[in-house]
Amino acid sequence: MQNRLTIALSKGRIFKETLPLLAHAGIEPAEDPETSRKLILSTNREDVRLIIVRASDVPTYVQYGGADLGVAGKDVLMEHGGDGLYEPLDLRIARCRLMVAGPVDEPHLSGRLRIATKFVRSTRQYYARQGQQVEIIKLYGSMELAPLVGLADRIVDVVDTGNTLRANGLQPREHIADISSQLIVNRASMKMKHQAVTEFIHCIEEAVERHA
Ligand code: ATP
Ligand code: PRP
Repeated sequence: MQNRLTIALSKGRIFKETLPLLAHAGIEPAEDPETSRKLILSTNREDVRLIIVRASDVPTYVQYGGADLGVAGKDVLMEHGGDGLYEPLDLRIARCRLMVAGPVDEPHLSGRLRIATKFVRSTRQYYARQGQQVEIIKLYGSMELAPLVGLADRIVDVVDTGNTLRANGLQPREHIADISSQLIVNRASMKMKHQAVTEFIHCIEEAVERHA
C-alpha cells in the first residue's frame, strides 16, 4: 500500500508514553505488545501498522526502511549517529539525563579512569571534549554493578529519579546531556510518502503541545 505507514516502537516505557500521542492522531493498536507475542501490530487504521523492536534497534529499522517512522531516545540516537534519518520532532516523553556516576564514598582516583557503559560513542565524545583520556568498558546493562565489583571506576548511564544509583551506593557526578524521545523518519519515506508522513507529524506535534 503506497501510503501505508509503518511505525517502529519499543515495548515498555516508549510504547506506553507514545500511546496517548498516537490516540490523538486517531491511531489505536489492535493488541497490547506486553501480552501479545506478535511483532507486527495492526491498528484501527488500515493505513497504519506498528512494529515492536528493541529500543536500540529502532533507528536501524527506520534508517534502512524497515519502518517509515519510529520513536527513539536521544541517548539511542546519539549512539546510532543519526545516518539516514530525519528527527523532526521532540516528543518530550521518556525524559531523563545521561550522566557520569560513581560511588558515594569514592576513593581518590588517579591515572586513566575506567568507565563502564553501553553508551560507548557518547562517552568517548564526552571525555574527548573534556580532553581526558579514559578506558571505556562496554556493557549491555546493569552498569551500576561495575564500580561495586571493581570492574570500573565510574559509569555512564541514564538517570531519572536517581533511585537506581542510590540503591547501589552511587551518585551522579557529571551531567552529559538531557534526554527525551524523538520522532524519527526514514529519508526516502519523507519523499515518497510525503503527504501521509507530514500529516502524521503534524497530528503528533499537536498532541505533544497538548500534553506539554
Ligand atoms: P534495550 O532493550 O534496547 O536495551 P532499554 O532497556 O534501554 O533498551 P527502555 O528501558 O525501554 O529500553 O528505555 C527506552 C528509552 O527511555 C531510553 O533510550 C531512554 O531514552 C529512556 N529511559 C531509559 N530509562 C529511563 C528512565 N528511568 N526514566 C525515563 N526515561 C528513561
Ligand atoms: C533505566 C536505566 C537506569 C534507571 C534509571 O533502567 O538503565 O538503571 O532506568 O532510572 P532512575 O534514576 O529513576 O532509577 P530501566 O528502569 O529502564 O530498566 P532497564 O535496565 O531494564 O532498562
